[in-house]
Amino acid sequence: MATEFKILETDNDAEGRPCQLSRRRFLQAAGVGGATIAMLTIPGCGTMMARTIPLPRQSVAKLADLKVDRPVTISFPDPGAKCMLVKLGVPAGGGIGPDGDIVAFSLDCPHMGMTLIGSYNAKHKGLGPCPSHLTRFDLTRYGIVISGHATQSLPQVTLELQDGEIFATGLRGLIYGRTQNLG
Ligand code: FES
Repeated sequence: MATEFKILETDNDAEGRPCQLSRRRFLQAAGVGGATIAMLTIPGCGTMMARTIPLPRQSVAKLADLKVDRPVTISFPDPGAKCMLVKLGVPAGGGIGPDGDIVAFSLDCPHMGMTLIGSYNAKHKGLGPCPSHLTRFDLTRYGIVISGHATQSLPQVTLELQDGEIFATGLRGLIYGRTQNLG
């Protein structure tokens, strides 16, 4: 486990930026029941590991209703947890749908919990800057930090598509301020 953690801390993309995955999240990967360890491949960053926590399956949208760069706010896995579902228009890590471009993320900044509602950046396919400390997140690469104070990626909602309906099935990461994702 210690060796794997060191690899994550020193992994950089082609521009020398650290390919950050939550340090806290990775350490927590050691053992929560029901969680699975997923291998994530991020362009330019190689492969890393993340914990995916399965949650009660929930319908969140119809595929036909989504438009490129028109994010919708959903509540998952409970009414107190706001997330954003968006069709990016470009393939993304963890993306679903015919174009692999539909993703969803927690809207609670993993730095200190400020809401990221309304901060979607269509040009850069990201969230942010966060109003508190200006962190920006890349939604095409599993929500990694691209600038700012946060050191953890945005928790990503795992999605499934069935008969034109989009379901949220779990979270890759822990929602800010919680000890478990389901409140
Ligand atoms: S709360 Fe978002 S960067 Fe600090």
